[in-house]
Amino acid sequence: MSSLLVYFGGKHYQSRVIVPEMLKHKFTCYVEPYFGAGHVLWSLMKHLRQNSRIDYIINDLSQLVYSFWKCVSDKNLYKELMQRLIETPYSRDLKRDLDQTMTLYMDIENLGNNRRALLDNAWRLYVLSRQGYGGKLDGGGWGISYNGSPNHALSKFYKPMLKIPRYHKMIHRCQITNQDAFAVIKAADGDYTMFYCDPPYFDGDKKGLDAYLNEGASFAYIKKLFDLLSECKGMSFVSHSYIQVVDDYVMAKPYWRRIDLKVTSRLGSTTGRCNLKKFHDCVYVLARDDQLVQSKQMDLFECMVDVYE
Ligand SMILES: C[S@@+](CC[C@H](N)C(=O)[O-])C[C@H]1O[C@@H](n2cnc3c(N)ncnc32)[C@H](O)[C@@H]1O
Repeated sequence: MSSLLVYFGGKHYQSRVIVPEMLKHKFTCYVEPYFGAGHVLWSLMKHLRQNSRIDYIINDLSQLVYSFWKCVSDKNLYKELMQRLIETPYSRDLKRDLDQTMTLYMDIENLGNNRRALLDNAWRLYVLSRQGYGGKLDGGGWGISYNGSPNHALSKFYKPMLKIPRYHKMIHRCQITNQDAFAVIKAADGDYTMFYCDPPYFDGDKKGLDAYLNEGASFAYIKKLFDLLSECKGMSFVSHSYIQVVDDYVMAKPYWRRIDLKVTSRLGSTTGRCNLKKFHDCVYVLARDDQLVQSKQMDLFECMVDVYE
């Protein structure tokens, strides 16, 4: 199941590998401290029974992301959001105006109670994400069709918004927060907590990171994250691209294992041609409660993905 948002760094393709691994564990609380568009959660929910007794915590430091999912989960705001989106034109001028006032991390006081600000932010994120290109929110161009069909881009904007009620039903009981990830991890830890972390990557040469976070993650930040998760009682799944120094650090720690994903992405161009790009992603897993803990052996998955939906 894909998300309502197209999001740079979204893990739609990884969810096919991560979710079956997650389902091998017993958990009563599921926490995503870096939620973004939440691809892994949607895929996980598809496999869980509606009445399974799991607490969900959805967190993102971005006020835009927080506002969006807060509105979708709210019993009144989700209807208002959908109505406003239905009335929104698919327009390059609108996208350009929004780009000029865009900041992913805004300082809005009392956002939690400010319904107007929540709705404005939610609307803005959907428009930028679905009228933009490749989920890049920072002025990355206007989303036009690359598959030859004139209606393709339009339907990518108008169709998903009609699914807002379905997503509302899935998350109306989730806790949605707007805090720093480390605070959320510390507060939510427990014997049967499962963390799925998809932080901004540390990339030696910092390419591409500022698409959603100006500074990207430093190596020190990534190390602190793995240190913190190693001290937790709960289980952890962490996505990261394969970076030698990160891998050396994690694999030297007890009980962590790595799943490799060899990914081929198809990057669409306006001429209708596709460029193939190969990259190596991984998922680091720490689970203390079953046989998975024993093995550090590499599993190799190959998949073909359309990164830009
Ligand atoms: C790679 S994206 C997550 C994508 C997500 N897994 C998906 O499938 O759509 C990383 C997210 O972490 C958020 N983020 C960055 N730094 C954070 C922090 N210190 N605490 C919480 N969230 C943070 C960003 O706003 C961004 O939405």
